[in-house]
Amino acid sequence: KSCKITVLPGDGIGPEIMESAIEVLKAISKKYGINFEFHEALIGGAAIDATGDPLPEETLKLAKESDAVLLAAVGGEKWDNLPTDRRPEKGLLKIRKELDLFANLRPGKAYTALLDASPLKENLIKGVDLLVIRELTGGIYFGEPRGIEERNGEKVGYNTMIYYEHEIKRIAKLAFDIARNRRKKVTSVDKANVLEVSAVWREIVTEVHAEYQDVELEHMYVDNCAMQLVRRPKDFDVIVTGNLFGDILSDEAGALTGSLGMLPSASIGERYALYEPVHGSAPDIAGQGIANPIAMILSAAMMLEITCKLPEAARDIENAIDKVLEEGYRTGDIWAPGTKKVSTKEMTKAIIKY
Ligand code: NAI
Ligand code: MG
Repeated sequence: KSCKITVLPGDGIGPEIMESAIEVLKAISKKYGINFEFHEALIGGAAIDATGDPLPEETLKLAKESDAVLLAAVGGEKWDNLPTDRRPEKGLLKIRKELDLFANLRPGKAYTALLDASPLKENLIKGVDLLVIRELTGGIYFGEPRGIEERNGEKVGYNTMIYYEHEIKRIAKLAFDIARNRRKKVTSVDKANVLEVSAVWREIVTEVHAEYQDVELEHMYVDNCAMQLVRRPKDFDVIVTGNLFGDILSDEAGALTGSLGMLPSASIGERYALYEPVHGSAPDIAGQGIANPIAMILSAAMMLEITCKLPEAARDIENAIDKVLEEGYRTGDIWAPGTKKVSTKEMTKAIIKY
């Protein structure tokens, strides 16, 4: 078995954490007899410096010829004064769009060893294991018409929240398929009491559910969901929602369970998939060898499960990370008194060992 991976280290701590993920994948490759072909390419600030373009044509071509894309992070002060359409972040938006990655998956899992880092009480958070699936290529972030103009002598800004049936169908299907391999519950989040777009969302999700009677479906208004996530986070399994609501709820769900350095993500399309940590390029700690590689490594684990169809390998990595945290290994961002402060490389080594 073989898996061709486009590797995009990007900027800041990107290259440091990418190196960790690749070492872990190499260890996995030995154990499971899978052959990874790593092809490194440029994105973000690094690509701007080398070619003037945050997403060179070559990178995009390579991504389209690969089974999966692993991305670390882009951005930094050096490029902050460039016009918006030539900044590092543009490379990220463009690759998501070009690969038609319509679903963004963000797991929120509470690590018992890290409960100190959660803003919630231990008994509330212990055992939380949820997944937010956010629609990523539609909704109000892309809807037309949009604009800023003068009306009746004053300035107005407006956007359009719009969803087509096919956009709702494909993400609902994905949510039910994923829920089948988890705890078989989907919470669909909308604002159907106020928005027409949400009424359609609810109707289509309910229709798709007919083919998934083994999965429980509940509908929830977004404001209520924001509250329930804090009050009873353990009750959620898969949350599926549109672009705007998902942007907000996925950040909330991430914050529930602790540190930014622990949060992976996957962006999935019909043909392509891209895996990246939730955090950015952390320029404040770049080049020091102290970044937390776990979000990047867990993103690689999501790739193993979803693209490479090796769920056991993904579980191996997750279990190793549990173990390492229980043993008290901590990078600076998750350090607490009484635990062992380690570097990026030491953390990676420990994970591979377990
Ligand atoms: P950030 O996520 O890079 O950093 C926020 C804070 O968390 C910093 O104090 C950082 O040191 C810490 N942090 C983040 N990841 C960490 C890790 N793995 N280990 C230890 N500490 C970690 O967000 P910020 O500071 O808002 O943005 C920095 C740059 O990253 C900007 O140029 C921004 O545009 C870019 N960015 C890129 C993203 C991406 O590539 N997907 C996402 C978010 C921001
Ligand atoms: Mg966000």
